[in-house]
Amino acid sequence: MPTFLITGAAGFIGRSIAAALLARDESVRGVDNFITGKAANLAGLERMQFLDGDLTDPVLCERACAGVDTIYHQAALASVTRSVEDPLGTNRNCLDATLNLLVAARAAGVRRIIYAGSSSAYGENLVLPKHEAMLPDPISPYAAAKLAGEYYIRAFAHVYGLEAVVLRYFNVFGPYQDPASQYSGVLAIFCQKMVRGEEPTIYGDGQQSRDFTYIDNVVHANLLAAAAPALRVSGKAINVAVGVRISLNEVVEILRDLTAYNGRVVYGPPRQGDIQDSQADIRLARELLGYEPMVDFREGLRRTVEWYRRTVLQPSNQAVLI
Ligand code: UD1
Repeated sequence: MPTFLITGAAGFIGRSIAAALLARDESVRGVDNFITGKAANLAGLERMQFLDGDLTDPVLCERACAGVDTIYHQAALASVTRSVEDPLGTNRNCLDATLNLLVAARAAGVRRIIYAGSSSAYGENLVLPKHEAMLPDPISPYAAAKLAGEYYIRAFAHVYGLEAVVLRYFNVFGPYQDPASQYSGVLAIFCQKMVRGEEPTIYGDGQQSRDFTYIDNVVHANLLAAAAPALRVSGKAINVAVGVRISLNEVVEILRDLTAYNGRVVYGPPRQGDIQDSQADIRLARELLGYEPMVDFREGLRRTVEWYRRTVLQPSNQAVLI
């Protein structure tokens, strides 16, 4: 029986955690419903036992949790814009899925669950950097659903003794992130476009900023969260980021340099539900997990551009093995 379950294993964060665990020779099960996950992302993960299914189905959750010790719960419909258009779909795939998984995890005797929380929980609170003691202020259905998932996770830790760690990710980016959807993360879209010589569009004036976090940092934090003593981390929400914010205008300038794109940048109206600035205080991650960012923004973006160069220029637009 596999020791680890990764939900959203065909998504870019899930597949990256799976790759790290397999590299350690761990026994891994993955599950994905392919709403946003991609079969191509499973390339290289053949040793992972894989379930094609949806966590809104309690029977599938039971199968997924059987015999498992630790869950990395990465499955979600990750997009603020998508949630504004379809709040029910977001709720189903973020919150209902999480609660089903928790019920099944408890029944199966799973020891620990690590939950992919979101920096969107902090919302419009103007205080920077965002720290975990701040009152959450979700301003999009996505933020509300992800935050409600956190509360369920922590409630399960409290009443059923399930060890539960929430990692609040700040704008994760890197290889395997899907660039092809209107709901994709901005760096995936910009890398694809600028590598292809196409114009990126900035929604708003480009002064909005994010604590863009390279995927290796997030994988690192997950592995630490699985190994940390329960007394120290269970029931806690912990920021995972670099601790530096970069504006979209700065992003475009760095990308010009990395991609040699010299065309224009289009500016459009700001997006609904968008927040202005985001930057994490990562002291708690340092203290509780011994976390330290391993890859800074520029190096992460360089590696990401290299990856998109190798993949998006392929005619099929499918990920290929590195
Ligand atoms: C938010 C969360 C993030 C979460 C993500 C899931 C915050 C601070 N961050 O990200 O942790 O993982 O939701 O979706 O709440 N943009 C453009 N042009 C584009 C695409 C996007 O200008 O083509 C802009 C957006 O309007 C936004 C910024 O880029 O201002 C980042 O957008 P996006 O990558 O979608 O992530 P967030 O919504 O910030």
